[in-house]
Amino acid sequence: MYNSKITGLGYYVPDHVVTNDDLSKVMDTSDAWIQERTGIKERRHVNSEADSTTSMGVKAAEIAIERAGIDKEDIDFIIFATLSPDYYFPGPGVLVQRDLEIKTVGALDVRNQCSGFVYGLSVADQYVKSGMYNNILVIGSEVHSRGLDMTTRGRAVSVIFGDGAGAAVVSREDDTSRGILSSHLHSEGQYAEELAVTAPGMGKRWVTDILKDNDPNDESYYPYMNGQFVFKNAVVRFSEVILEGLQKNGLQASDIDLLIPHQANLRISQFVQKKFGLRDDQVYNNITHYGNTTAASIPIALTEAWEKGKVKDGDLVVLAAFGSGFTWGSVIIRW
Ligand code: ACO
Repeated sequence: MYNSKITGLGYYVPDHVVTNDDLSKVMDTSDAWIQERTGIKERRHVNSEADSTTSMGVKAAEIAIERAGIDKEDIDFIIFATLSPDYYFPGPGVLVQRDLEIKTVGALDVRNQCSGFVYGLSVADQYVKSGMYNNILVIGSEVHSRGLDMTTRGRAVSVIFGDGAGAAVVSREDDTSRGILSSHLHSEGQYAEELAVTAPGMGKRWVTDILKDNDPNDESYYPYMNGQFVFKNAVVRFSEVILEGLQKNGLQASDIDLLIPHQANLRISQFVQKKFGLRDDQVYNNITHYGNTTAASIPIALTEAWEKGKVKDGDLVVLAAFGSGFTWGSVIIRW
């Protein structure tokens, strides 16, 4: 039996910065409202056709692979988490295999929205621990901006989300006291529609009807979010799943060197920080600059924190996420 560990990290965000003031030019909102409710000052939006969920994921992956000190041919499995794939199918995992021009390794797409990277990491961990694979590429990437309702009708959702990608290489670690110690995954599908994009699913509608209707007011293609309900569930589930991970490993909140919560909303992160009595330097937030990038938020934040020297050998790093599904999870890492 082995452990797995993160050996390389990378992220990519488009260079087009969209401030709250920029948004207030196209919808009835304000910098003050957005900052007070979410903590967000700006986010990135793709501004060229060259940027897609896959292409950004590839850019993040190339950095992660280089930092892992391996060749891309050493990757033996790909896991890609996103809610905004380039195509309805196939998913972006195979597109990464193609665009990286690597051998015909397996590619798995994860559909767990804000928890997608945590789910992906957990899957990678199991494959490495079992000895099946040695180096797995785990990517979280999102292009939200092309799918948002950028009018006043969509403002409660559209101001929150941003575009970007993050990636990690997960490799075999022979020292079982290091690396990913445990992961914890949950879901509660009874709330599936509280945070969802319900089109173009085949659940209720025939695609021929959708094409025939071609209704520009069809809101089912835009994200719907019951904001306050999501908020209330998020703070509870974040706390539960962090505690579950700590208890599993006989640890306490004071042992955490760095908590990286999915960047849903600064107020959610602050609630969790307070609940566990953590200092500011024990929690990493960057939602102020990138907004909520869903599956990409944890790998972007983890990479940034690592680049700033906030993640050091021996540190206890806790990743935690909650989002659409509802799904939630945590990963406990001894770096
Ligand atoms: N600008 C200005 N006013 C707005 C905006 C906006 N962008 N959006 C909504 N409003 C208005 C509403 O229309 C409403 O007006 P009314 O009182 O006249 O009806 C008022 O502001 C209050 O709206 P609420 O939805 O009640 O605002 P709330 O305080 O709940 O804040 C928010 C909304 C920020 C979405 C909040 O519910 C929240 O943080 N929810 C958590 C969900 C979250 O973080 N989701 C992230 C994605 S999911 C995930 O990653 C877990």
